[in-house]
Amino acid sequence: MSAPSTRRVIIDTDPGLDDAVAILFALNSRRFDVLGLTSVAGNIGINITTKNAGRLLALLDRESIPVITGAAAPLARKGIEEAGIHGNDGLGGVVLPEPLAKPHGYAPFWMAEQLRANHAGSVDILALGPLTNIALLLRDHADAARRIGSLIVMGGVVHDKGNVGPHSEFNFACDPEAVDAVLRSGLDVTLIPLDVTRKVRASVEFVQALRTGIAGNAAADLISAYFQDGHESRPLHDPCVMLLALAPELFGIETRNVSVDLSDGPDAGALVAGMASVKIAMRVDVEGVLGLLAQGLA
Ligand code: BDR
Ligand code: CA
Repeated sequence: MSAPSTRRVIIDTDPGLDDAVAILFALNSRRFDVLGLTSVAGNIGINITTKNAGRLLALLDRESIPVITGAAAPLARKGIEEAGIHGNDGLGGVVLPEPLAKPHGYAPFWMAEQLRANHAGSVDILALGPLTNIALLLRDHADAARRIGSLIVMGGVVHDKGNVGPHSEFNFACDPEAVDAVLRSGLDVTLIPLDVTRKVRASVEFVQALRTGIAGNAAADLISAYFQDGHESRPLHDPCVMLLALAPELFGIETRNVSVDLSDGPDAGALVAGMASVKIAMRVDVEGVLGLLAQGLA
């Protein structure tokens, strides 16, 4: 039997507990050819998200994958930190080994180099945080950005309630101007909003079943840290990006015309009806994706 094919990806991320689980899955499943982890400020400041990316690579002994430092702040706003959920270290107090390699470069520039060095359309970007790096890539390296295969983004909310404003989601609320640039880019964009990611929940039993091997045990610790406040289950937002990349058939994807609220009001970053045509995951086979996640972490 031939080995399942791998996807060549750049993971743009602000780890972050659910980012960390998503990255562990991507690395451990061996279903992705990860060119690098580009960090962005989001859940916590850039120094910590960058370091956490390196820590995950050190844990799984994947130091050959580079970490590239990205934007320290959104394009035009102050940013919102989520220390309340992810802890002051971004990892809920879960201790991982220190990175063995120093981060390099500057993410938008490095992404452009990678996109130019690979066949057009052969590199996908998996975006787990605010879209600042991608917007800078579009602004400063438009020729390279056009070479992205698909851009799969955790962000936004359609019918459900927001987790920042009444209708706004954290990644999009952090940097609405970056969302606007991505929506207008004409790239092949798929959004995974809270409507779907909130359905993909880890229960205590699910977490217990993950406890096998280095990646599984670390993922279990990270998700457990997410339970601190006594919830019975927690949503696995960012892993949905990797899961959709591998198994789009487990999601119900629709094309919608949207734009983003660029006001300074409580719904800054909210998706509204507009002119940009993007794919949005609106349904998910929960059992299917949780099974795939557990398998990849084992
Ligand atoms: C998103 O916000 C962050 O806190 C999570 O890491 C995820 O990317 C969910 O709204
Ligand atoms: Ca994230």
